[in-house]
Amino acid sequence: NGYFTYDPGFVSTASCESKITYIDGEKGVLLHRGYPIEQLAEHSDFLEVCYLLLYGELPDAKNKEMFSTTILRHTMVHEQMVELLKGFRRDAHPMAIMCGLVGALASFYHDYLDITNERHREITAYRLVSKMPTLAAMAYKFSIGQPFMYPRNDLGYGGNFLHMMFATPCEEYHVSPVLARAMDRIFLLHADHEQNASTSTVRLAGSSGANPFACIAAGIAALWGPAHGGANEAVLKMLDEIGDEKNIDQFIAKAKDKDDPFRLMGFGHRVYKNFDPRAKVMKETCDEVLNELGLGDDPMFKIAKRLEKIALEDEYFISKKLYPNVDFYSGIILKALGIPTEMFTVIFAIGRTPGWIAHWHEMISGAYRIGRPRQLYTGPEARDYPPVDKR
Ligand code: CMC
Repeated sequence: NGYFTYDPGFVSTASCESKITYIDGEKGVLLHRGYPIEQLAEHSDFLEVCYLLLYGELPDAKNKEMFSTTILRHTMVHEQMVELLKGFRRDAHPMAIMCGLVGALASFYHDYLDITNERHREITAYRLVSKMPTLAAMAYKFSIGQPFMYPRNDLGYGGNFLHMMFATPCEEYHVSPVLARAMDRIFLLHADHEQNASTSTVRLAGSSGANPFACIAAGIAALWGPAHGGANEAVLKMLDEIGDEKNIDQFIAKAKDKDDPFRLMGFGHRVYKNFDPRAKVMKETCDEVLNELGLGDDPMFKIAKRLEKIALEDEYFISKKLYPNVDFYSGIILKALGIPTEMFTVIFAIGRTPGWIAHWHEMISGAYRIGRPRQLYTGPEARDYPPVDKR
């Protein structure tokens, strides 16, 4: 009607101002607080990047130490959480469990939900970053009927997560430094990506004044879909479906067929029309992990490598700028680490948590209004209610 802009999918609408993350999709640039993701992935670690996202600057040595210690000291969850978890079906999708448990954290910390209180906001950020891996590992252990493993804070963020996932009380579990570093890097590479669907959801939920646990639970729900965080899970399902290198051409043909809705999972991005810089780093990590585990000849990983090569050389993918995205490689790494496919999106959620909180905090700290998009109404004109025998 001329009063507002119609922009389905928000492809050209800026919903906020932000100082956190900069993306140039054409050039393949991703900066957190000005620092290129490649440099952060090489020299930093997940918790330092959390600090950077949350506080705006890299920590000095003392603050780095204090922040890591604080996060790692909050890793345990209230024992009552176990009872809550037991209420779920054992075959529940872990993302369903995460939506529930993270939202439920608000009921455990209701004394700290004053969103105008800086200390409350800070401790809630610590709690969320610390407890997400614990809740995620609990959801997994519950699904396979194994006892929950308490966090081991001495193992660091990535190593502790692998410990909680794979250790049992019966025997010593050794966390390989290469694999712990790969885990940490997966979290780091997912830490923020400006106004994607889940982060926009967190902001929208937060704009109503909802508490941060509820907002992050909303973000987890948005992340769950296969077009967003569910893509790395979809990559593995697709590789499974392809099954053999000889079937690759047939799947490529399906992906190119305009009348076939099939898409090559793990390829393409709304913003990157160049190689996603995170995917470049993830590709290196992928090679390191496959080497460390001696999986270079595994049929599934061979299919993935062939697919990557074909897609990078095929005219269709080149002309549409459909590069392998971060989920393509993260799916392969997670599979190699022995992480079940249903957990992939949960791992994305753990990594994205500091980004979600940083955006929520940035919004709540400034002048903001409740998010209230308008619509283009295409329904019936006003009409009179007919009695039931006249319909
Ligand atoms: N395989 C085959 N064709 C594709 C693919 C693909 N993966 N992705 C896009 N296209 C084609 C699409 O058919 C369309 O062709 P045409 O112009 O002839 O109609 C063209 O490329 C543009 O696609 P689009 O759907 O308009 O692009 P979009 O920006 O709306 O979608 C996307 C981006 C990521 C949803 C899409 O590329 C896709 O579905 N990829 C597969 C799923 C995936 O890997 N998702 C993870 C995204 S990265 C992680 C995240 O941000 O959460």
